[in-house]
Amino acid sequence: MSLVTMSAVDFACRMPKAELHVHIEGTLEPDLAFALARRNGLTLPFRDEEALRAAKNFTDLQSFLDLYYACADALRTAEDFSDLMLAYLARAQADHVVHAEIFFDPQTHTARGVPLAVVIEGLDAGRREGKKRWGITTRLILCFLRHLSEEDALSTLKSAEPFLASIDGFGLDSSERDHPPRKFERAFARVRALGRPGVAHAGEEGPPAYISEALDLLKAVRIDHGVRAVEDPRVLRRLAAEGIALTVCPLSNVRLCVYPTMADHVLPQLLEAGVKVTVNSDDPAYFGGYMNDNIRALQAAFDFDIPTWALLGRNSIEASWAAPADKKRWLLALENLLRS
Ligand code: HPA
Ligand code: ZN
Repeated sequence: MSLVTMSAVDFACRMPKAELHVHIEGTLEPDLAFALARRNGLTLPFRDEEALRAAKNFTDLQSFLDLYYACADALRTAEDFSDLMLAYLARAQADHVVHAEIFFDPQTHTARGVPLAVVIEGLDAGRREGKKRWGITTRLILCFLRHLSEEDALSTLKSAEPFLASIDGFGLDSSERDHPPRKFERAFARVRALGRPGVAHAGEEGPPAYISEALDLLKAVRIDHGVRAVEDPRVLRRLAAEGIALTVCPLSNVRLCVYPTMADHVLPQLLEAGVKVTVNSDDPAYFGGYMNDNIRALQAAFDFDIPTWALLGRNSIEASWAAPADKKRWLLALENLLRS
């Protein structure tokens, strides 16, 4: 297919790209949730898959988180986490995602009596199998739940130290309102002392000041979401000047009512301001789709041209923590597709 016939959306769907914002617990599809519940002898608080699907009618971040934590209860064994990871990687690679940086929420599992060792053993087994089958590379990012205390984050970090070989970075997620980044300053100082980068969800539902705090106090190297930066020109200019990548999740923002429709999304404004924007799926099992579903929804709203998609693809690879040789290879493949 040449550029003459390749549409912008075909190009975007087919280009090699990285996913930098996906929560593994948010990839739990209803059929797998029920299969795992059966395997583990549990009952989910929904009659069937249809009832679970019907519950995905969110009004804000918290209404989603309540369901997300309820469904995570199906995950009990290393095999469960491995199956979950492999199912996500299968879908990601089908969308030409060549590299994925994947969040997990250990506190959600340890609080239910599932040991961290079990979670990591399973996620690692799934990652190994995905790499073997499809060549897809991954990084694992341990997220602290911000609705819990900093002491809880610090003790989670302590218990994660034996598994640092499997953990490439640390993040901050869950309920943003009233849980500012500054609450976790000591935990992220410890993360840096352990030689790992930090990222943080900020400016999804929280104000632009939370983005500045994540940068200044947590030394976050990327901002997850960050869309509310458009409300403060100084924050917007800073993100652009410092080349801080935003991991934007368009379908998530619409499904959680951050914007009423995709046409209201600020992604074009962020691009216009020169911010290093990337496109991601966040919790694809809950928000209506994976990487290329996000691409198609953006295209339907904004009709981006091929150069814009190529920029978004390059941004995702450049902002990733992949090996330099891999980045070079994927960037070259992207340019080759552009010229084909
Ligand atoms: N925001 C905050 N916490 C989360 C999200 C999100 O979009 N997804 C899973 N945990
Ligand atoms: Zn997220």
